[in-house]
Amino acid sequence: MTGMTPKIAVVFYSATGNVAALAEALADGARKEGAEVRVRPVPELAPAAAVASNPRWQDWVDNNPYDQQATLDDLDWADGIALGSPTRFGGPAGQLKEFLDSSGGLWFQGKLVDKVGTSFTSASTKHGGLESTILAMNNVLYHWGAIVVPLGYTDAHLMESGNPYGGSFVSRRSAAPDEEALAACRIQGARLARITRYIAAGKNP
Ligand SMILES: Cc1cc2nc3c(=O)[nH]c(=O)nc-3n(C[C@H](O)[C@H](O)[C@H](O)COP(=O)(O)O)c2cc1C
Repeated sequence: MTGMTPKIAVVFYSATGNVAALAEALADGARKEGAEVRVRPVPELAPAAAVASNPRWQDWVDNNPYDQQATLDDLDWADGIALGSPTRFGGPAGQLKEFLDSSGGLWFQGKLVDKVGTSFTSASTKHGGLESTILAMNNVLYHWGAIVVPLGYTDAHLMESGNPYGGSFVSRRSAAPDEEALAACRIQGARLARITRYIAAGKNP
């Protein structure tokens, strides 16, 4: 293994903080594996009235801890990219898709080819679309020519948390991610960093 430092961007949308908590756990896992990590939410695009209709959403918009939002430069900079979104009607939130749809210029220049990518989500019900959301985010990675890294059952913990597609949390009654889900995301971040290191070292020997 080389000593190079993989650059990881964790790019996500969160309306009420659950996906942000998963993003931070994934970032922690990547850092422990020696990565340099940027954790960046995409811009909120919902109308003010929609945000105001949910006090938890309004609170997140007003008080979330992020002072830097994701930009296309983060995608260009990163060797490995983790995409996160709440499950919205069985797929990713429009806010994340809008950001990803702005990557056409980078795609056209071939700058997203051979990035390493992985995806994670939170939903409110067990069968509410966790996997379909992860798979939909991964579709973007395929189109970029990225190398998609699933979580698999690559660690004993994942036999308990049990989503080989990617880190996931079922937030019943708005519960914040529990240790089981956070640990799965840390494993996902470490795995992303490790595989990104292999790929990036091979590209820049
Ligand atoms: C418009 C909307 C659509 C949603 N659709 C689903 C869904 O299809 N399945 C599900 O289980 N949860 C659904 N949820 C619940 C969110 O996925 C869940 O609350 C998630 O944990 C929120 O993550 P966040 O705190 O990062 O925003 C939906 C929430 C909203 C606001």
